[in-house]
Amino acid sequence: MHRLGGTGRAPILAGFRWRSDATSADGRCPLDQLFTAENLHWRDKARDIADRIVRPLAAKYDREQEYPWEIRDALAEAGLFGVWIPKEFGGHGGGVMDLCLVVEELSRACGGVGVLFAVNALGSFPILLAGTDEQKAAYLPSIANGEKLIAFGLSERPAGSDASGLLTNAVEDGDHWVLNGSKKWTTNGGAADIYSIFAVTDPASKSRRISAIIVEKGDPGFEIGRKEDKMGIRCVPVVELHFDNCRVPKNRLLGGRAGLGFKHAMMTLDRARPGVAAQAMGLAAGALELATVYATQRKQFGAPISSFQMIQQLLADMASNVEAGRQLVYAAARACDAGAPELTKMAAMSKLFATDMAMRVTTDAVQVFGGYGFMKDYPIEKFMRDAKITQIYEGTNQVQRLVIARNLIKEAGRLDHLAAFIPLPDHPNTLEDLARAERASADA
Ligand code: CAA
Repeated sequence: MHRLGGTGRAPILAGFRWRSDATSADGRCPLDQLFTAENLHWRDKARDIADRIVRPLAAKYDREQEYPWEIRDALAEAGLFGVWIPKEFGGHGGGVMDLCLVVEELSRACGGVGVLFAVNALGSFPILLAGTDEQKAAYLPSIANGEKLIAFGLSERPAGSDASGLLTNAVEDGDHWVLNGSKKWTTNGGAADIYSIFAVTDPASKSRRISAIIVEKGDPGFEIGRKEDKMGIRCVPVVELHFDNCRVPKNRLLGGRAGLGFKHAMMTLDRARPGVAAQAMGLAAGALELATVYATQRKQFGAPISSFQMIQQLLADMASNVEAGRQLVYAAARACDAGAPELTKMAAMSKLFATDMAMRVTTDAVQVFGGYGFMKDYPIEKFMRDAKITQIYEGTNQVQRLVIARNLIKEAGRLDHLAAFIPLPDHPNTLEDLARAERASADA
């Protein structure tokens, strides 16, 4: 069984073994002992590609705003596109944890490459979570080996945060679905061969209005529209998609059942948001590393600026926040892989915390670089530009707060026993009343 199903049966420490031989000589992750051998294997592969291939190319693709096919090829050759895909469908049988470790490493070198990779998880999670066996067998192996890229089409001009307000529609016509409408902000669009598209199939229904349909590049009536000119993550395309009487065979309806699309979109986002959090955290970690090295080399007043306490304070706060974000990302990833009941809240918390943190840390890193940091021939301003979108996509951080609060309130039922200790107008409101209430509850 793969780990994304959320059945709660996959052990949280599957494959765990204490690594007494693990070293953290490079000082990057002091907690390697907590990972499985597989986790470390995929993380190290990603780290090698990030340092050797991604970092030297990051500025070029940022400038040109073109898809870095040579980086895609290196990731595919290393087998990284298969880390979240079950073995029976050509992957390596890992889960959200392996996905996050790879995204973190890539984002340390280039936030655009981090999402270029992670967006394939976002696009393929609907198939993994809800596809029929035939759909999984048809699509997942070519995604796992990196031959095909995939995108996720949910947002539309009138439906950003209000995802259920989308208008693209699909109607049955003989053996086909016919789609009409447009999608907005589709990351990986144009580069991708496969698209998980959310469309209205039952306009009259309130809760079963939307279905997911798989669309392929080349389907009649499907066109890639305007390519956005972006502030950050410039190496990965973000485009509009247009459907003009686009005909796809009936068996492309996800899971073979209409009406479950919104749920599938939400379940997908739950498992993809830790990946955005990992992208943000990787960006923050990468910016901190550069700022630390710069601070030890840059001299002012006759001494490296790292010797000044105001710079030390910046670096210390940045490092503490990166580490807090990292642990929350890993906790959310483990919650997803274990199918923990709190995974929706944990995923939203990791996305909220890590992306707000990344914005602060990358901004402070520019500050450490001073005037040079503002210039494009230094690598640091790109981290700040790349970080901004992480607070917005896959659910704005305002939406994450909504999700967290809704779940907290839902869980409040478990805390009913605390009500007796809170003096409210219609509850006991003096210490004496409280003591009486406690005695009464002990007697009961
Ligand atoms: N898992 C399973 N089901 C869920 C769920 C979850 N996490 N969250 C909600 N649902 C179900 C509910 O149970 C409910 O089901 P019933 O109708 O059967 O009761 C249904 O979905 C509707 O739920 P809500 O009433 O909570 O829905 P809402 O309209 O109030 O919306 C929202 C909630 C949290 C705001 C949601 O719309 C949302 O997450 N919005 C943000 C969308 C988003 O992240 N978009 C980004 C797209 S990807 C992208 O950025 C582009 C890219 O390419 C990277």
